[in-house]
Amino acid sequence: MKAEELRITIYTYDRPEDLPDGGLRLVEQAKEATANAWAPYSQFRVGAALELENGIVITGNNQENIAFPSGLCAERVALFYAGSQHPGIAVKRIALAAYADGRFVEKPVYPCGDCRQVLLEHENRVKQHVEVIMYGKNETKVVKSVADLLPLPFDYNLAP
Ligand code: THU
Repeated sequence: MKAEELRITIYTYDRPEDLPDGGLRLVEQAKEATANAWAPYSQFRVGAALELENGIVITGNNQENIAFPSGLCAERVALFYAGSQHPGIAVKRIALAAYADGRFVEKPVYPCGDCRQVLLEHENRVKQHVEVIMYGKNETKVVKSVADLLPLPFDYNLAP
């Protein structure tokens, strides 16, 4: 038996104003995107803003459905739109925000497992790290790569 330890670095900013490289603007766009969420079942509105390497910003939000599995998270709405309209253009960063009970959440929301899987495939495909900015009113967390959020991903190419 051998034990392996994994290490990830999470950057925490008390104020989104302190985010480098215009990160605050992307957070603002993610916050704005929560307004168009369709979330009558969870009442939890998520917004995502993707910055592409050519500077274009794509936003998305969660779109729910009464047949629960038929809805989609904000991250994948935005990423699939980017893939369909701007094929082959790498995503540099994604910012996330969530709004519930009449206010933006205090602690950041992190992408769900399915979104991590989908974002990681994009990252591997374009061979560039995608930074993930997870906004909360009290703290905003940043990881430099989606791989940090999904250290042991499903990938059958890795099978022996
Ligand atoms: N949701 C997202 O949009 N992104 C995530 O990463 C996790 C969850 C949505 C799905 C559902 O509409 C609502 O949040 C509550 O789970």
